[in-house]
Amino acid sequence: MKIAIIGSGGREHALAHQLRKSSKLSEIYCIPGNAGTEKISINIDLNLENFHELYEVLNEKKIDLVIVGPEKPLVEGVVDFLESKNIKVFGPRKKVSQLEGSKIFTKKICDKYKIPTANFKICNSKDEAFEFLSSANFPLVVKADVIAAGKGVYICKKIQDAELAINDIFGGKFGKTEQLLIEEFLEGDEMSFFIISDGITYKTFNTAQDHKRVGEGDTGMNTGGMGAYSPSSLINNELEDKILKKIIDPTLKAVSAMGEKYVGFLYAGLMIKNNEPFLIEYNVRMGDPECQTILPLIDNDLVEIIDACCNSNLKHYEIKWKNKKSMCIVLCSKGYPEKYNKNIEIKNLNESESSEKHYIFHAGTKLVNNKVLAIGGRVLNFVNLSDNFSSGRKEIINEIKKINWEGGFYRSDIGYKVINE
Ligand code: AMP
Ligand code: GLY
Repeated sequence: MKIAIIGSGGREHALAHQLRKSSKLSEIYCIPGNAGTEKISINIDLNLENFHELYEVLNEKKIDLVIVGPEKPLVEGVVDFLESKNIKVFGPRKKVSQLEGSKIFTKKICDKYKIPTANFKICNSKDEAFEFLSSANFPLVVKADVIAAGKGVYICKKIQDAELAINDIFGGKFGKTEQLLIEEFLEGDEMSFFIISDGITYKTFNTAQDHKRVGEGDTGMNTGGMGAYSPSSLINNELEDKILKKIIDPTLKAVSAMGEKYVGFLYAGLMIKNNEPFLIEYNVRMGDPECQTILPLIDNDLVEIIDACCNSNLKHYEIKWKNKKSMCIVLCSKGYPEKYNKNIEIKNLNESESSEKHYIFHAGTKLVNNKVLAIGGRVLNFVNLSDNFSSGRKEIINEIKKINWEGGFYRSDIGYKVINE
């Protein structure tokens, strides 16, 4: 089978790595990929905004199956487009991708299907938002109704913070908008919960804990994710049952009621309080870096599982997981998530070899004249499988030190809530 993966991050490198283990795979392409995928697949540099160009390439290479990594092409309808050209694609269609594309769309589903989530108010103008603030309790959360890679979310401790957020959003900081969302601030612990679905059946696809803030102790600015570990220490049978019954099942019922089906990974960002789940947001894809952490734990042939999803055949498979702890630490360019330098060489990469328990997945890298250059904020993902998170973290930090990249930094406290030292 010839497979193409769309995307260029650590998630896509981890997917390519896992798919390559399958005997069913003949060729793998990454569009556009990075320096890591270039070593294990064929990278094709392409403008992903242009679906026609994408189709031409897929058709010319006789691709059997396309896997879409990031949210942007999903929300823009790449699945609908490729399906209309008779190409098999793994990922949700445009209409259901609104689960990530519009927080208001998801909140309306939560309301109709009584899905536990933060209380909210949809505001259609600045005046309405300011009026609401005058009698609101703080802290609260103000959100732009866009995909802004986590940047459209403002946690507001006082009224002045909320006023600033409202001015930013209606001022067009995240594009032209007619609406925003104001939410109750939820207390608790966050967890990333995943399922994989073929449109008829779904299976759980493990859990992870992501560290989104740039600084040690979860402080400072929000990022795409500085590290993660799997499984989450919060999960237990009772909680999983509640998540499925109160959140996932009603959401899939809402998808059916729209005349749609959900094919792909679905990622529920949850807040857990007293073993009760609340939905913060949906993402219509795997998380990044959660994917890098979760995939090395899978004990199935991933090509078989994803192909089964595209053939509405998932019910015949049982997804199995290694009884290991997995951790990922992200090495970033100094300055991230704000300004950082680009095209900086990463030397010494050969000092750290991947093995069956240690992986390096590339993110913002590019191979130029046989040199690996950092071109993005999040650059390399170091993943380790071990019997406990503490030794896993030590081993990762050893590997990062071997590379000793002076242009980079990382959080050395990933997993601090489950490591007592
Ligand atoms: P989102 O993009 O909606 O996932 O929000 C980004 C981050 O903001 C989440 O991962 C949470 O850490 C935080 N957040 C969002 N909504 C809430 C809420 N209602 N209560 C508390 N924290 C929130
Ligand atoms: N790690 C957060 C995300 O993928 O959205």
